[in-house]
Amino acid sequence: MLPLPGVDALAHSRRLAERIAERMAAAGGWLSFAEYMQLALYAPGLGYYSAGANKFGAAGDFVTAPMISPLFARCCARRFIDWLTGQKAHEVLEFGPGTGQFAAEALGVLSSGDSPLQHYRLLEVSADLRARQQQLLASTAAGKIKLDWLDSLPKDFAGIVFANEILDALPCERFVVRGGELWRLGVGLAPDGLSAARFEWRVRPADGTCADDDEFRMTAARLFKKTDSKGKVAIGDRFPEGYCGEWQPSLAAWFAAIAVAMTRGAVLIADYGLPRGQLLHPQRMAGSLRCHYRHQAHGDPFIYPGLCDITAWIDFTAVAEAATQADFQISGFTTQAGFLLGAGIDQQLALATVGLDPTDPRHIALARGARTLLLPGEMGEAVKFMLLTREVAVADQAFGMALNVAPGAPSAPVLDPAFSLQDLRSSLWAPQC
Ligand SMILES: C[S@@+](CC[C@H](N)C(=O)[O-])C[C@H]1O[C@@H](n2cnc3c(N)ncnc32)[C@H](O)[C@@H]1O
Repeated sequence: MLPLPGVDALAHSRRLAERIAERMAAAGGWLSFAEYMQLALYAPGLGYYSAGANKFGAAGDFVTAPMISPLFARCCARRFIDWLTGQKAHEVLEFGPGTGQFAAEALGVLSSGDSPLQHYRLLEVSADLRARQQQLLASTAAGKIKLDWLDSLPKDFAGIVFANEILDALPCERFVVRGGELWRLGVGLAPDGLSAARFEWRVRPADGTCADDDEFRMTAARLFKKTDSKGKVAIGDRFPEGYCGEWQPSLAAWFAAIAVAMTRGAVLIADYGLPRGQLLHPQRMAGSLRCHYRHQAHGDPFIYPGLCDITAWIDFTAVAEAATQADFQISGFTTQAGFLLGAGIDQQLALATVGLDPTDPRHIALARGARTLLLPGEMGEAVKFMLLTREVAVADQAFGMALNVAPGAPSAPVLDPAFSLQDLRSSLWAPQC
């Protein structure tokens, strides 16, 4: 049973539901799930991320790695220093900084003597979260580093782009298997006679009656590599009847936009997800769509629209494909545990606990946070890290050395230490069953 929202929160959710219902009526009574999710999370002034509700921490709906332990940001920041030094670049751009805690902690490391960072940039779609980040970072000693908040991607960016738990919040398309074909799992208005708008799942074939049915079929054919003579996505008996799944239609556009903005550098992505062969596995019958409300995970995205977070796991093979198309190289893919261990979380923990007795609550909290980040049953395996690099091998041999190409031997890849402990790149291309 989910906790009941307060009166104001419920009124807010009803206003958003009415906005969605209006859009649905204008579209003929059916919305794709991606359109619904876009509105539920990002409708101006009303969506979960656009409006002012408390999302993070004990009083919110979920916690993320930077909130679990400062060691997360410190490990990333140490790698940023090496990568920036290698490519003689001076900028970091963080996508969706949430509470701003990653930036606050990372800036502690990035303002140290050996760091070449000059400019830390934050791109946040939520005005409310941006205000909270500004408040938190106003009291952070950033030293010589300039901070700024962007409304859109910059031009001629050279440096590191970082995105933690951003891609799983991109609107996703849903499908269901009906008679060996993929049908669209979208949203309609529930006929329950109540005045407030309530939604329910509505299934329809991608038969061309909706403007984006063609796009759905093309993506499905690419993911499942199978169309019949009429262009329908026929998957035979590979997936059981009723099998559901998701994909993020805007991934390619996301990378294309970064590719336009970035002259050279690296994109580091951390997110819940799997390679396609494991994500779209016949045994994962119900897909990975998850909603969060007051620290309870549930599977109904139509409960309290605007008050619940909605996410879906990332197909990292699709990320790799989108990134390759945008001229990035796949320079690393590993689990969160692999990345953090390779980036020296043990040394960071030792540093942070110097002089503290093991029974000291601060010592206990740091050790507990590290365990949550690393353990396979917690975040250690579910979250993956992917490093995508651009123009580094040709633009700068030194950056190549730091990332993936040994100096003087551009054809012999050398992985960054944070990705060499557990190199999972080959799993991206493992065949689907
Ligand atoms: C799950 S939170 C993750 C926050 C933060 N990265 C962390 O690790 O705590 C998602 C964040 O991404 C932001 N966001 C969502 N879509 C975005 C986009 N297209 N561009 C920039 N930020 C976005 C949200 O407002 C929110 O701050």
